[in-house]
Amino acid sequence: MCGIVGAVAQRNVQEILLEGLKRLEYRGYDSAGMAVLDGRSRLHRQRAAGKVAALADCLESVPLAGGTGIAHTRWATHGRPTERNAHPHQSGEDVAIVHNGIIENYESLKQELAEQGYTFASETDTEVVAHLVAREYESTQDLLTSLQHVLARLHGAYALGVVHASEPKVVIGARKGSPLVVGVGIEEAFLASDPLALLQVTDRFIYLREGDVVRLSEGGRIEIFDAQGQAVSRPVQTYEHGDGASSKGDYRHFMLKEIHEQPKVIEATLEGRIGDNGVLVKSFGIEAESLFSRAKQIHIVACGTSYHAGMVARYWLERYAGIPTQVEVASEYRYRRVVVPEGTLFVTLSQSGETADTLAALRFAQERDYLGSLAICNVPGSSLVRESDLTLMTQAGPEIGVASTKAFTTQLTALMLFTLALAKVRGQEPERQAQIVEGLRSLPERVKEVLRLDPQIEALSAAFAEKHHALFLGRGSHFPIALEGALKLKEISYIHAEAYPAGELKHGPLALVDSEMPVISVAPNDELLDKLKSNLQEVRARGGELFVFADENVAIERAEGVHMLRLPHIDDALAPILYTLPLQLLSYHVAVLKGTDVDQPRNLAKSVTVE
Ligand code: G6P
Repeated sequence: MCGIVGAVAQRNVQEILLEGLKRLEYRGYDSAGMAVLDGRSRLHRQRAAGKVAALADCLESVPLAGGTGIAHTRWATHGRPTERNAHPHQSGEDVAIVHNGIIENYESLKQELAEQGYTFASETDTEVVAHLVAREYESTQDLLTSLQHVLARLHGAYALGVVHASEPKVVIGARKGSPLVVGVGIEEAFLASDPLALLQVTDRFIYLREGDVVRLSEGGRIEIFDAQGQAVSRPVQTYEHGDGASSKGDYRHFMLKEIHEQPKVIEATLEGRIGDNGVLVKSFGIEAESLFSRAKQIHIVACGTSYHAGMVARYWLERYAGIPTQVEVASEYRYRRVVVPEGTLFVTLSQSGETADTLAALRFAQERDYLGSLAICNVPGSSLVRESDLTLMTQAGPEIGVASTKAFTTQLTALMLFTLALAKVRGQEPERQAQIVEGLRSLPERVKEVLRLDPQIEALSAAFAEKHHALFLGRGSHFPIALEGALKLKEISYIHAEAYPAGELKHGPLALVDSEMPVISVAPNDELLDKLKSNLQEVRARGGELFVFADENVAIERAEGVHMLRLPHIDDALAPILYTLPLQLLSYHVAVLKGTDVDQPRNLAKSVTVE
């Protein structure tokens, strides 16, 4: 994850680019840089290791002046976070380039270029693109055409911004697999990874589509070409979200807003991490491939909702990556005499990255013989992120509601990426991996479809408002989803709720079932469905009222006392993510009916930084 900004304007662009970088720092901040073309067709560059503030200090002592430029804030994948590896990368004195994403075939391209005498100043994959553009330019003498030729040779995911000294009023952008928007100004035009970066100069944006290439030139001219090179027009949209995170917008509660943000944040968590050949292992960090290939088992440690995400991951990691996995709550783990088998990777999950027990568990693990540590976290710069060897950031954005919603589904998304990365490194079932990757691509759309069922879910909530207890059932990877559903209900509606693996029903909880105990069951169309159906019969036979969330293709008989809600079909592997949503919405509506404080439920805190 990196952030890109570009501009072609009448005025000096240094401050516009710098402000844009500051706003993109959430995308990575291990080094930053800027290249500007002055009025005499000369390229000037400044780069600095560290945060954007370090670059700002350099620019204060040696400012850049010119109306055309590109800038970048980096999150290292290839090569350490040094000044030498910071973007923009140049080829000679003419071409400068910024890149977000991963060029998967950079090694063969690098070899080809090296044989032709090109030398490399960095360890990055990006530098090959700079040289390829320079080489093409020699014959085409046109930056747009050169980049189009180069794109045909790149595999992987990218958003790019390119300038050439011979075209001092031009910035070219391209996107495939990483986002890029064009900011429409008055006689000036801009480029960025996220509209947020440009809100200080415009509120009008063109969202480039996959494969698009754009030329920004003098006078605010914007020309867009699709992947086939055809000139196309894309709509200009006005940005209307305002300062999104800190306000509820039109929603009654932050929790509801955050539930509805899930399609967007899941998409953001996937962004730049899937290439032509599945998950991009390098997107987990420079050392990921070597660490993952040496891992023989995994220990996952977390608290609360994050712990439930870890429980789902255990099913995935064992099923799809064939790697033994243990999951434990941090407050237990840290005081246990843990036996660490050789080759164990330690993984923490946390929304905040500041949960005291999880942090203590990490420090405890660092004193033991683990292979290394990976943190899956939502807050860049948090203690957990700073202290772990590898990090995978979820892109949920700030989560204000105490009951975690979007942080959980983005954790699951990240954990599935982690599972697929391990499966890939370990050479497990490539066809199955490809199917799941396809499923991930359409996941945001499926999530939107489930959100449209909200009125039906709200209608179910009335049956819970007067109840004192509820039982959630699930099997396999949906048992943790049942646990999460029960946690949501108790956190915000104060109804006592428990979750059981459905097969355990007969070993105790069945004694509690009567007409006063609603039973909620998660029934995707998976291999355990038939067994689950038998468990549901056990509930019906005791007069319990059943609420079943099931796949649209599942045949479950409609009967008195059975309330069914059909969910769109999804690959079994990804069903736990989808089936979380109706449970979140159900809890929300029950809490609203009961009149509790949804966003700040009694006795709880968003981030528990004490033991
Ligand atoms: C608190 C929050 C929960 C959260 C848990 C772990 O209990 O109320 O929503 O799941 O902490 O937090 P973390 O930030 O580590 O995910």
